[in-house]
Amino acid sequence: MSAVPQTPPEPRPADLLNADSRRRIDREVAKYPDEHKQSAAMASLAIAQLQEGWVSPEVIEAVADYLGLPPIAIHEVATFYNMYATKPVGRFKIGICTCLPCALRDGAKAGEYLKDRLGIDYGETTPDGRFTLIETECLGSCGDSPVCLVNNQRMESFLDNKRIDELIAELKAAS
Ligand code: FES
Repeated sequence: MSAVPQTPPEPRPADLLNADSRRRIDREVAKYPDEHKQSAAMASLAIAQLQEGWVSPEVIEAVADYLGLPPIAIHEVATFYNMYATKPVGRFKIGICTCLPCALRDGAKAGEYLKDRLGIDYGETTPDGRFTLIETECLGSCGDSPVCLVNNQRMESFLDNKRIDELIAELKAAS
């Protein structure tokens, strides 16, 4: 008797998430009661962004599907916080804080120097795809200003021109 051919399962949006991302998202979900899965949305999006480099519409669908939430719930999170890149970004996303406390301590000047060194404006990416520069809201480190955040994870403080030069050189060497 010949075996009945199996129909492959329909592809799902969540298939985009690799095993490592799924494992990490599962850890986040486990922190909350089942009925509060949406509390893991921010962390899950950050994990998916780390995997894909940015939060595309497909990433939003994938996270929503994996968490069993409506895509609009994830879309709202992704578009509210500027830690999520809803457009492709360079390998290194540098977010410089230009809020008032930082601005009073040379934050704007540091931003101008970064623009000059990278040859791009805020919201732009260098032609080689290495750097994206954005302005951020307060990063909670006003006492160390001027400050920037690299790839949402690494904080750099007291950014004078020398420190910016060193940072750019270091990131270029790593790319
Ligand atoms: Fe820049 Fe707070 S205003 S870190």
